[in-house]
Amino acid sequence: MEDLIDPEFLQTSVDEDRYANGINEKEGAFGYMIRLENLSKIYNTMGDNRVVALNNISLSINKGEFVAIMGPSGSGKSTLMNIIGCLDVATEGKYYLDGRDITSYNHNQLAEIRNKKFGFVFQGFNLLPKLTALENVELPLIYAGVGAKKRREEAIRTLEMMGLGERIHHRPSELSGGQQQRVAIARALVNHPSVILADEPTGNLDSKSGMEIMEIFEELHSRGNTIILITHDINIARYARRLITIRDGQIVSDEEVEMQ
Ligand SMILES: Nc1ncnc2c1ncn2[C@@H]1O[C@H](COP(=O)(O)OP(=O)(O)O)[C@@H](O)[C@H]1O
Ligand SMILES: [Mg+2]
Repeated sequence: MEDLIDPEFLQTSVDEDRYANGINEKEGAFGYMIRLENLSKIYNTMGDNRVVALNNISLSINKGEFVAIMGPSGSGKSTLMNIIGCLDVATEGKYYLDGRDITSYNHNQLAEIRNKKFGFVFQGFNLLPKLTALENVELPLIYAGVGAKKRREEAIRTLEMMGLGERIHHRPSELSGGQQQRVAIARALVNHPSVILADEPTGNLDSKSGMEIMEIFEELHSRGNTIILITHDINIARYARRLITIRDGQIVSDEEVEMQ
């Protein structure tokens, strides 16, 4: 984090450390990794239509949590994830990340946070079809300015971790859905983000491949990653420790997942 230009951000890593050491028990914005306060997202679509995608959401997520977000189609799940991941911004409300207010950050500042802090996994894998698994996983490291040799080593190591050591030179079309999603997870992880954001990651997979993906998330959670997962499927949500249900842009329940 030292190489971030914004000096205030350095303060953040201090807060984060205090939290990690359990020293910071103060309520409020500090002490949480992610804290949303009265957040709303309103789309003004053509023809004067106002769509309230998120309606006054307040939510805190601690470092190391494994959270599932469920809700019907159109309830605002992806909008919420995109705002948490700094891919989008709210219309109203506050977003505190690691105790600092990032609500009014500009595009570049958000991009910088996004690239360091978050790894994304999507339903449709979003791999580049002409690139091999290895090249896809190397991409974030290219953006991060990592040199060729280190890049290759890191990408191979991460693909091996995903059980794809034998597949690194395959293109996405030569891989099964489950394998493609594991490449996408490797790409999300290769920069060592602290938070994994996954939007319906098992939505395009058969149940066996879906379970394999969930076992990977479980493993990442046990290693200390924070995971926020959107799903339709209660059997997938049960892998998480906390289940948030949203409907019409509002949180309707937020509860611990009972261990089976
Ligand atoms: N870019 C956009 N422009 C206008 N409306 C949008 C846009 N993105 C999402 N919406 C609307 O916001 C609501 C929430 O969408 P979304 O977050 O994608 O829901 P979910 O992921 O739960 O299916 C929906 O009514 C959707 O149509
Ligand atoms: Mg969605």
